[in-house]
Amino acid sequence: MSPTPSGKFKNPRARYNFQGRTCSIVGVGSYVPHKILTNADLEKLVHTSDEWIFSRTGIRERHIAAADEFTSDLASKAALRAMKQAGITPDQIDLIIVATVTPDMIFPATACLVQRKIGAKRAAGFDLVGACSGFIYGLEVGQQFIMSRTYDTVLVIGAEKLSSIVDWQDRNTCILFGDGAGAAILQNRPQAHGLLTAVMGADGAKSELLTIPGGGSRCPASVASVNQRLHFIRMEGKEVFKIAVQAMLTAAKEAMSRCEVSIAQIKCVIPHQANRRIIDAVGERLGARPDQIFVNVDRYGNTSAASVAIALDDAVQLGRIQRGDLVLLVVFGGGLTWGAAIIEW
Ligand code: UT7
Repeated sequence: MSPTPSGKFKNPRARYNFQGRTCSIVGVGSYVPHKILTNADLEKLVHTSDEWIFSRTGIRERHIAAADEFTSDLASKAALRAMKQAGITPDQIDLIIVATVTPDMIFPATACLVQRKIGAKRAAGFDLVGACSGFIYGLEVGQQFIMSRTYDTVLVIGAEKLSSIVDWQDRNTCILFGDGAGAAILQNRPQAHGLLTAVMGADGAKSELLTIPGGGSRCPASVASVNQRLHFIRMEGKEVFKIAVQAMLTAAKEAMSRCEVSIAQIKCVIPHQANRRIIDAVGERLGARPDQIFVNVDRYGNTSAASVAIALDDAVQLGRIQRGDLVLLVVFGGGLTWGAAIIEW
């Protein structure tokens, strides 16, 4: 169900109020592990340099989880912070959605492990694989449950321990990724501000550009698959880069068009934090001023599904977003997948 049958809105403040239901983001929170891996540290692991990494990606450092710290731990810590900000208790949560490509185990769902860790005994839970687009996919799914009156309170988390699937011998990829989690509480709160629209897209024909070939039903874990390093991320970086810029641009324009808002009306653009050059290219093509674009890729690297969730929390903490501001989230990732969302804060 979309807020109106056409998906088009005249009044930005009425568009998300559908038959008395609104989907508000009433709290956000994030968590990154303590250990920091700098570009200088990576120079000791692979043939690279701080100069190359920073100039090609904008990344200075990333956070890496401890050996005994799993995706569900990062997710739970982010969730507890979002719940505190929202002022809700665990028993109020109806549903937990965890967007991740690094679940603690293939099953059970990481959402179920989070349910236990935060004590949300009433909540149902499932994981969602949208790769770097997972958080926006999660927001859209959560919104549908709220607008359809199935649930009143949904916890959406983007969480990743990417260090567990990075090939630390591959300089093309190992310099890019980091660990972390971000969470949002969605709630039906009449009169409150909310999620105005979410756009999602995918192109499975290009799935091979960004993948982990091993460990699934196509190539189950075996000594041979491990020896061939098939359980690590593989990416055709240059190709992904080009498609990412165009797909993010198209998704952002579609979201703005649905809400009938221009880039000048957006207070803060929060793009997927994969590469500073992608962020700049998208911002420029959208006609955004540099001060409208939120960037923290320098401190966290690419945290996949956690990326825009962490950035949203950072932007709120830093006072970059105030009540009533319009915020544009825009993402791209494996699948290939992409998406954009507009929130009235
Ligand atoms: O989150 C999901 C979406 N993912 C993305 O959006 C990532 C998209 N891709 C990218 O961000 C960029 O393509 C990369 C950062 C991955 C690579 O940047 P690039 O400007 O596309 O570099 P390249 O792959 O064309 O490589 C240029 C050169 C190559 O050397 P030759 O063949 O020209 O001699 C690479 O071998 O840079 C070399 N190179 C490195 N050199 C030093 C690749 N990685 C490194 C490295 N250190 N870490």
